[in-house]
Amino acid sequence: MKRNPDEKWTKADICAHLGDDYDRFSGAIVPPIFQNSLFTRKTKDHGYVYTRVSNPTTEVAEVKIAALEEGEAARCFASGMGAISSAIMYWMSKDSHVVCVRSAYGPTREFLSSYLASFGVEVTFVKAHTTEDIEQALRPNTKLIFLESPSSHIFELQDLKAIADLARSRSIGTLIDNTWATPLYQNPISLGIDMVVHSASKYLGGHSDIIGGVLVGTNEAMDRIMYKERALFGAIMDPHQSWLLLRGLRTLPVRMKAHQESAMKIAAFLEDHPQIERVYYPGLKSHPQYELGARQMTGYSGLLSFLPKGDMQAISDMLPRLRYFEIGPSWGGFESLANGIGIGIESEASEATGIPQGLVRISVGLEEPETLMQDLDQALRSMK
Ligand SMILES: Cc1ncc(COP(=O)(O)O)c(C=O)c1O
Repeated sequence: MKRNPDEKWTKADICAHLGDDYDRFSGAIVPPIFQNSLFTRKTKDHGYVYTRVSNPTTEVAEVKIAALEEGEAARCFASGMGAISSAIMYWMSKDSHVVCVRSAYGPTREFLSSYLASFGVEVTFVKAHTTEDIEQALRPNTKLIFLESPSSHIFELQDLKAIADLARSRSIGTLIDNTWATPLYQNPISLGIDMVVHSASKYLGGHSDIIGGVLVGTNEAMDRIMYKERALFGAIMDPHQSWLLLRGLRTLPVRMKAHQESAMKIAAFLEDHPQIERVYYPGLKSHPQYELGARQMTGYSGLLSFLPKGDMQAISDMLPRLRYFEIGPSWGGFESLANGIGIGIESEASEATGIPQGLVRISVGLEEPETLMQDLDQALRSMK
């Protein structure tokens, strides 16, 4: 279905129907996978040339995600990191400076601090609990402020509107990793942020069966990135991946509702548990930035972390005793996962990223929350 310019679609309707052009696709209720490398132009120019540049299946996902994020346009990438590195390169020129939040995803930090350093790019990592933290780090050559709110380990937040206003007043670009909140629960562009990136490998795909990324911004920026960074790095999402992403998007609202409800229950349960030192979850009133989160988000996802009482060995031994949680690094899928991200972290890295030693992160899946709470309870009690 196409959207009339004056028509307001709900997010659920966007996920279910926007961009599904039945006339164009022979009435197919699900768009086909255009599994072809090139498009012939012998009799007519259909607007496509080569799948490294654009593809009709991928475009349907892009139409949906741009609308969900309240941005002008979106582009899909082969991975979240493909989208992040392409977006960062869009803002860079020789000898640029970037301000990045300290709790950004590890490979994002690495791309900025070690990979781009060899091209003369400098980065300053900041705590960014206040906008002044960011302001103090700005330099005359700062080209980009990279945000991740909430971050995906300790769930630190940044004041998006205040930072967007500051950046605009200094002609500095703003880019945010919005993977945790998803476009359902936070729309940074509507708060003045220039560009939004998602790892589609998490909630957008939702079934732990794709690696993908999405970028949302202005038509002008997305067109430039489509012909430059995405086409030149060869970083476009492939048609089958795009089709799986579309399938994931159709159930995003119902999945997110379930993730949120379960995570809320589990976070509250852990907060009261005698074996727990601290819970990190923006949906809890005890979160130090709860008010800010409630102001700029409309919901919470299913990723949270906690610090158990006990030494590192006891925490490490507890994890494999979980029966329903698999142990793994990713998140946002149907399955519950646990990851000892603070186990074995060096004190220097802990200081730099804010991740406390012993931190355990869980991705709350779509199982019954009561089952998951019982599982956590038995594993935590076994630590004594
Ligand atoms: C917050 C966050 N951003 C970006 C990424 C990168 O996404 P991908 O693995 O799809 O490249 C991840 C992956 O774990 C992530 O957790």
